[in-house]
Amino acid sequence: MPTILIASSKGGSGKSTIATNLAAHFAISGKRTVIVDADRQHSSWHWCERRADLDSAVLPVDGTHEKWRKKVPDDAEAVIIDAPAGAQRPELRSFLDEADAVLVPVLPSTFDLEAAVPFLDSIVQHKRVNGGKLPVGLVANRLRPWTNASQQVVAGLKSWPYPLVGELRDSQGYVLMAGLGRSIFDYHSEQARRHQDDWAPMLRWLVRQS
Ligand SMILES: Nc1ncnc2c1ncn2[C@@H]1O[C@H](COP(=O)(O)OP(=O)(O)O)[C@@H](O)[C@H]1O
Ligand SMILES: [Mg+2]
Repeated sequence: MPTILIASSKGGSGKSTIATNLAAHFAISGKRTVIVDADRQHSSWHWCERRADLDSAVLPVDGTHEKWRKKVPDDAEAVIIDAPAGAQRPELRSFLDEADAVLVPVLPSTFDLEAAVPFLDSIVQHKRVNGGKLPVGLVANRLRPWTNASQQVVAGLKSWPYPLVGELRDSQGYVLMAGLGRSIFDYHSEQARRHQDDWAPMLRWLVRQS
């Protein structure tokens, strides 16, 4: 069962957005999917509740205490962990012990980039990251690809020692989907397909890690 941790040092960088869209992608593809919601704001948990009546529902599990593992059903086929805002390595340890891959969303802003550096320096001290057993991928989120600022950030991130595995555009679609308990993978319009294309490199990278 692939277990994917979504974590970053800052709130608002897109952890819950990535966690919920990824979970929907797995659920729609027929996998029994769980979100472990470790953030006390419980954004992902509420999203799962809004989605409960769909065939591709996602099971929410409370990840705010150490016993989260026991609550993940044995027959789960995909597990997405939505980490708490501002968490550092000690709080993330139980997730770093279990994950097959880590996704770190970063917004195209100087503040976000600056905050990502000590965060990455901290998680690389975990022995599974350090020993190359737990791959870490960066996801540039809320890009406006036509702007210089976004282009510069993407070019800069490509020189970091972690692969840039995803580039997601800034879109009100994500805000709308979150409120409906949906994802961009639930729709088939041309616009939805353009958004889905953004996810293809990240999904391919995740397949290679599990
Ligand atoms: N690619 C995106 N385009 C537009 N809005 C986004 C995007 N990603 C996230 N958001 C919005 O930004 C806000 C913060 O995102 P969220 O996923 O809740 O971050 P986190 O879980 O890291 O705190 C939310 O209102 C969300 O809808
Ligand atoms: Mg969140």
